[in-house]
Amino acid sequence: MATGHSATQRSLTMDAVWDIYHEDLEDIESHIHRHLNAGTPLINEVAAHILNGGGKRIRPLLLTLCARLTGYVPKDDLVLGSLIEFIHTATLLHDDVLDEAALRRGQLTAQRIWGNRASILVGDYLYSRAMQEFSSFENHDMNETMAVACRKMAEGEILQLAANRQPLIPESEYLRIVEYKTGALVAAACKVGAIRGGASPAQQDALHQFGMALGIAFQLADDRLDYMAGNTHLGKTPGQDLLQGMVTLPLIHLLQQLPVEDRQRLVTTIETGALDAHHLARLTALMHRHGSLQYAGNRSRDYIHAALVNLDAFEDSTAKRALTVVAEYMINRDR
Ligand code: IPE
Ligand code: IPE
Ligand code: MG
Ligand code: MG
Repeated sequence: MATGHSATQRSLTMDAVWDIYHEDLEDIESHIHRHLNAGTPLINEVAAHILNGGGKRIRPLLLTLCARLTGYVPKDDLVLGSLIEFIHTATLLHDDVLDEAALRRGQLTAQRIWGNRASILVGDYLYSRAMQEFSSFENHDMNETMAVACRKMAEGEILQLAANRQPLIPESEYLRIVEYKTGALVAAACKVGAIRGGASPAQQDALHQFGMALGIAFQLADDRLDYMAGNTHLGKTPGQDLLQGMVTLPLIHLLQQLPVEDRQRLVTTIETGALDAHHLARLTALMHRHGSLQYAGNRSRDYIHAALVNLDAFEDSTAKRALTVVAEYMINRDR
């Protein structure tokens, strides 16, 4: 268990981290199930389907580790972690509607089973339920952190929608979308942990920035994996991003490398929505040839390094080492 552990271990693996914090993670699970009991059968069915689907619980784990890092003793960070997971789950329900995704965590999406309307409404329910529970802590900083994160996530999805089938968006615009849609919640998880841990404002900021960079790195890795053949163990259908018109870093890089005529042809194919699975296979081969996947992997790693700098000011502890391991895992994950 987290609190009883000394920091004597030299190097940790992700399996060791899951193991050290397994009691906390089990408690987070039971809080998730306690909150799931909505009294409305459709909510329970849809929410249970996705919440029991084998999510990694990375955000609750980060929240707990950040609370431990800053000296937390009681255990209500585990409830907070379950609420963060509710919000994450809401975004996934909405995301699978937007992306018309068939698979999530290796099983059919709620969108495929119950349709768009139930997915959206249950997503809305999970969002608002979580915010209601957050407010019961009567902590202004925590409420504000969560409200800002939710606003940014919605804005990120809207920016992404506006950028659909626009292959010439600058890398900076892509990164802004990623920061908003994914970085914001990971950052909030870390900051809420810090707030619970009684961290100073400077420490809260450091952990917020840590989470932001981590979240960005995580999404860059996810976007790269979408182009990697043989990533089916992730439980999502590969190649879906571009087929849905979503322009991500490997493509942005590739377009910069291609000769003008090839670039123009590809831009038109994407803009007109004419891209199919056959194009996609050729495109992926080109990405390998021009180092676009390598580039995206390097950028992702840069963000992990930038994230870790924010931990420098904290003393060595098991939680700090675990955070370092989780950071690495977020870009080298196997599920
Ligand atoms: C998936 O997040 C959505 C992205 C931000 C890429 P996770 O990979 O954390 O999803 P689960 O909860 O573990 O399935
Ligand atoms: C992440 O984007 C979505 C959220 C932040 C909710 P993706 O669309 O890439 O996520 P996956 O790949 O479907 O999990
Ligand atoms: Mg998606
Ligand atoms: Mg994805």
